[in-house]
Amino acid sequence: KTVIGVLASGRGSNLQAIIDAIQAGRLDVKIGVVISDNPEANVLKRMVNYDIPSLCIDRRQFSSRQDFEAAIAEELNIRHVELVVLAGFMRILSRYFIDRFEGKIMNIHPSLLPSFPGENAQQQALEYGAKVSGCTVHFVDEGMDTGPIILQEAVPVLEDDTVEALADRIVHAEHILYPRALALYCEGRLTVAGRRVYITDKE
Ligand code: GAR
Repeated sequence: KTVIGVLASGRGSNLQAIIDAIQAGRLDVKIGVVISDNPEANVLKRMVNYDIPSLCIDRRQFSSRQDFEAAIAEELNIRHVELVVLAGFMRILSRYFIDRFEGKIMNIHPSLLPSFPGENAQQQALEYGAKVSGCTVHFVDEGMDTGPIILQEAVPVLEDDTVEALADRIVHAEHILYPRALALYCEGRLTVAGRRVYITDKE
């Protein structure tokens, strides 16, 4: 079983969807550890219901970004994590961290990349006047939401949408997409060639 480590900063609904998929038998991974950079994060409160190691690594307790990332990497290594899963993790990881988990970091972003990278992707889509948006699961490289795309799902932008309404529609799609992308990875069905990720059929 692939051991994943989940990094999350906030609500943790994507982590919840991953846990639900595991419990429903749709995803065969082990969550080795959940790490939040935010001591107040709801994601940590969720974890009291589960027998999964979880902890906070607070950026403010480190004098440099590298020390902070080294502490995260150490914790992931102690738990034998093979794939790092960013689920609403609101920090950009530096080269230093990415080199340690080369090709083994996944992120979910609430837009159809390369449109609307960075923060407030749903608001960006609304303000731009896009008629569709969606979500993207991708491998992480040193850029901002620029790594090779694994899966995408589109959702409509409606005329009376608020940022919250659009974000809810997108996150609902995320909860289906992320467990599917993780399953593909764990089944060894993803091949990265440059920017393109090829998905092989199930044997
Ligand atoms: C999700 O919509 C995710 O795509 C987004 O934050 C939300 C986290 O929700 N991530 C980013 O914007 C990354 N830059 P959750 O904490 O309920 O999973």
